[in-house]
Amino acid sequence: MDTVVAGALIHDVSKLAEFDGMAETPVYNLLGHPYYGIYVVAAVDLPVELAHIVLSHTSRTPVEPATIEAELIRRADEVAAAAIRSQATDDLRTV
Ligand SMILES: [Fe+2]
Repeated sequence: MDTVVAGALIHDVSKLAEFDGMAETPVYNLLGHPYYGIYVVAAVDLPVELAHIVLSHTSRTPVEPATIEAELIRRADEVAAAAIRSQATDDLRTV
């Protein structure tokens, strides 16, 4: 459970360096999402299992989830992204 929670919190950490406001930065343009996140995870000595979650949470990399924790984050991220795209979050707020 700790790995899932930590993975959920950090899986998009690279976005902090990928955007400056609404503008894409060189990190985004030259590295792509979420490769900078792997650097951040390594720089602060987090476990490789968390780096795997960061790397495998999106179809933008060829790395598929190899742990149940990574699979949970991948699927949760897909659901969240789909909800945002369909504006379902607005519907949930009115319930
Ligand atoms: Fe992401």
